Amino acid sequence: MNYSQMRESLLNLKNEAIALISDTKGQKELERLRVVYLGRKGKVNKLASGIKTLIDSQKKEFGLLLNDTKSAIQQSLKVEAKRISEQREGDWLDVTLPSKHLPLGHLHPVTLAIKEVARIFERIGFTRVRYPEVEWDWFAFESLNMPQGHPARDEWETFFIDAPSHSKYGALVLTPHTSSGQVREMHRLKPPIRMINIAKCYRRQQDVTHTIMFHQFEGLVIDVGISIQHLKGTIDHFAKEFYGKGVTSRLRPSHFQFTEPSFEVDFSCTICEGTGKRKTGKRCRYCKSGWHEVAGAGMVHPQVLKAGGIDPEEYTGFAFGMGVERAYTLKPGLKLDDIRLIYQNDLRLLEQF
Ligand code: PHE
Repeated sequence: MNYSQMRESLLNLKNEAIALISDTKGQKELERLRVVYLGRKGKVNKLASGIKTLIDSQKKEFGLLLNDTKSAIQQSLKVEAKRISEQREGDWLDVTLPSKHLPLGHLHPVTLAIKEVARIFERIGFTRVRYPEVEWDWFAFESLNMPQGHPARDEWETFFIDAPSHSKYGALVLTPHTSSGQVREMHRLKPPIRMINIAKCYRRQQDVTHTIMFHQFEGLVIDVGISIQHLKGTIDHFAKEFYGKGVTSRLRPSHFQFTEPSFEVDFSCTICEGTGKRKTGKRCRYCKSGWHEVAGAGMVHPQVLKAGGIDPEEYTGFAFGMGVERAYTLKPGLKLDDIRLIYQNDLRLLEQF
């Protein structure tokens, strides 16, 4: 090949490369062309090896032409690579694809239960309140007719706080029950009082039906002429709203220092409808007796009214206290046989609510 043939070949090579490059469809093909033209054993280098046969002046000129060819091919590779990648992005935009879903949480089942309980009572004129989680002994016990050293105190499995005592109210405790809000409410308001106090409570007890921290809701109604009928009616109303129409309550005699008379409240079983027997004639394994024990209740003790500054000759009242977790896990279809599961933060459980 003489010099002019070499120059013509080089020009053809450049045009050919640029034409092929501008026709490519993908990055792979582009890379293959780069190797074919600019690779170590590529077409441009092959022509370049002929430079040895040229005289000096031609060598210099041919060298410049070679550089020019290389940079022209490189430039078109670059332009094409950019075009392909932009086109690719365009091709990938499929508007029919489902979008990415970020995991979305929801309220904890106990929070949901609290909201539901609050709504039921608010609709019949109760006001929701919250009182301290860390409470003075006086509100938790003394004002509720349980003086220092009274054996009834033992039932509450109290956590006492290692802090200086109040001269009038005594030691600090983690609220063992929402009843500690009763006298606080009497101090806040004059009758008529219709309070629903929903709060965290703490007791030194942990097993399948108890967690150290749990929630209670406490109803307190004080007015002229309040009787046990009002208590029973209110509890029945709650049972129907919370569990469904067929559910009723029954009161059994019991004892609390702060109510007189006192009751245990049972709700009829939603599975066997209070009969204690399944349709097959077998005993209901869910309740065993037709009833579930859910709450403590009673008529507010005159001593407690006095502690709240209310004249027991003029006013009477009823109160009840129920565990939120306990009430909630008795809902039909919610077979939660270990209450502690609620607080283990296991998504496999929580996602089901
Ligand atoms: N405070 C009692 C408990 O925790 C329940 C109760 C509330 C009883 C109000 C009577 C009146 O078990």
